[in-house]
Amino acid sequence: MSHPLAHEIPGDDVEQPLAVEQPLVGGRLTAGVVRVGDTVRRPASPASGFVARLLAHLAGKGFDGCPRHLGSDQLGRDMLSFVPGHVPPRWQRFTDDQVCRAARLLRRLHDATRDLAPTLGGEVICHHDPGPNNTVFRGGQPIAFIDFDFAAPGDPLEDVGYLAWAWCVSSRPDRGPVTEQARQVRALADAYGLGPTGRDRLPAAIGERLRRNEAFWRDVQDDAAASVPRARSAELVAWTRHELAYIETNQQIFIAALGSPGPP
Ligand SMILES: Nc1ncnc2c1ncn2[C@@H]1O[C@H](COP(=O)(O)OP(=O)(O)OP(=O)(O)O)[C@@H](O)[C@H]1O
Ligand SMILES: [Mg+2]
Repeated sequence: MSHPLAHEIPGDDVEQPLAVEQPLVGGRLTAGVVRVGDTVRRPASPASGFVARLLAHLAGKGFDGCPRHLGSDQLGRDMLSFVPGHVPPRWQRFTDDQVCRAARLLRRLHDATRDLAPTLGGEVICHHDPGPNNTVFRGGQPIAFIDFDFAAPGDPLEDVGYLAWAWCVSSRPDRGPVTEQARQVRALADAYGLGPTGRDRLPAAIGERLRRNEAFWRDVQDDAAASVPRARSAELVAWTRHELAYIETNQQIFIAALGSPGPP
């Protein structure tokens, strides 16, 4: 039986049965993401060209932690491979194992771009949005990142900072004590393989990513054409400010956890 919200589009070949489109919900920014068989169709955006190039580069490197770019469909949408698994709709508390696997996945992604990035002006290509909501889990473990719309050349710390925030840090009481969060950030840094300089810079990098997030949602809020309702973007601005204050208040705890000697 088809999905209750599904509708049909003509297939490429009139002899073929009509392809069924299944809406994929969970994203905030891109309206109209659908699944068709083993593929995902996303409306083309200004990022489409770079994302296609990046995903082709990653495929050439044998990196399997992302979708494949399959071209455009007859409606001009980007066609990507559907990565089977579960994408968590909300940020939540994760185990050390899940966090460390996400960190190693990010490291592999970065390493696979080290030859491409310098020609474009960065050390690596950053995903720039590697939250759990853009991660496919299989068997309870993160196995792939999706949604490369914000990917661009950058400093690895931009992504490691975002990863630490999105996967480990939150002011919500159900996310555990801050000392425990800081310990998990340390585990994440170890799993990524961050050196001493990166470790020293990580607490500031987390704060910097939150400031950028706040500016991003503020821009969305001010954009009359944005697909996100204004009340929702205002909420996200306020939430990011609140989380930034939490991180700044607890800065010394994160610095201490990252600076302490690792296990023998
Ligand atoms: N290649 C893929 N494989 C599997 N599922 C996918 C894929 N691409 C998208 N999805 C699903 O579709 C949902 C929305 O896609 P996507 O994350 O690209 O939208 P978005 O609105 O740009 O997200 P964001 O809010 O992170 O900007 C995802 O949460 C995921 O469940
Ligand atoms: Mg997304």
